Amino acid sequence: MHRSVLRKILRISLAGLVTGFMLPGPTLAADPEVLKPRVPADQIDEARSWVNPFPASQENIEKGKAIFHGKGFCVTCHARDGRGLHDIEGLVGKLPRNFTDKSWQAARADGELLWILKNGSEGTAMAKFVPTVFSEEEAWHVILYVRSFGK
Ligand code: HEC
Repeated sequence: MHRSVLRKILRISLAGLVTGFMLPGPTLAADPEVLKPRVPADQIDEARSWVNPFPASQENIEKGKAIFHGKGFCVTCHARDGRGLHDIEGLVGKLPRNFTDKSWQAARADGELLWILKNGSEGTAMAKFVPTVFSEEEAWHVILYVRSFGK
């Protein structure tokens, strides 16, 4: 079950990758599309008010890293270095987020990241993980790890 779901989302993300390659586009470093909020307008104020209850201690970041590489399998799309499966400037579309993008990091509140982990990003390969794959507490730990790529 788990395996077939994984295979399915990998297929979707690979399809996205191929389409991305075929799109003509300017070679801009920062893609403004990426900065647009993913949380719907009627929920974003609430989402932005959610605060990570866990401090960014080395221990908590390591817990998030273990989930990123383990049961969360984030690494399959976002890559070991957090840059995502695409490393070519100017690629646009719904590709896995590059967490080392400092302008993206600055544009998002922690609560928006939690919202994504609870709801997924509609129309993309980014699925929801809470509570089916891991708990909200674990999500906050993964978010600490995601934030560490922007440092
Ligand atoms: C099957 C591929 C895939 C997997 C697995 C995956 N992601 Fe994503 N992720 C994506 C894609 C594609 C996007 C871009 C969605 C968009 O542009 O709206 C994304 C976007 C995101 C975003 C940014 C949303 C925003 O507000 O801009 C975060 C945060 C994120 N993923 C975290 C994670 C975490 C944490 C995991 C593991 C628990 C994970 N992802 C697993 C494909 C994946």
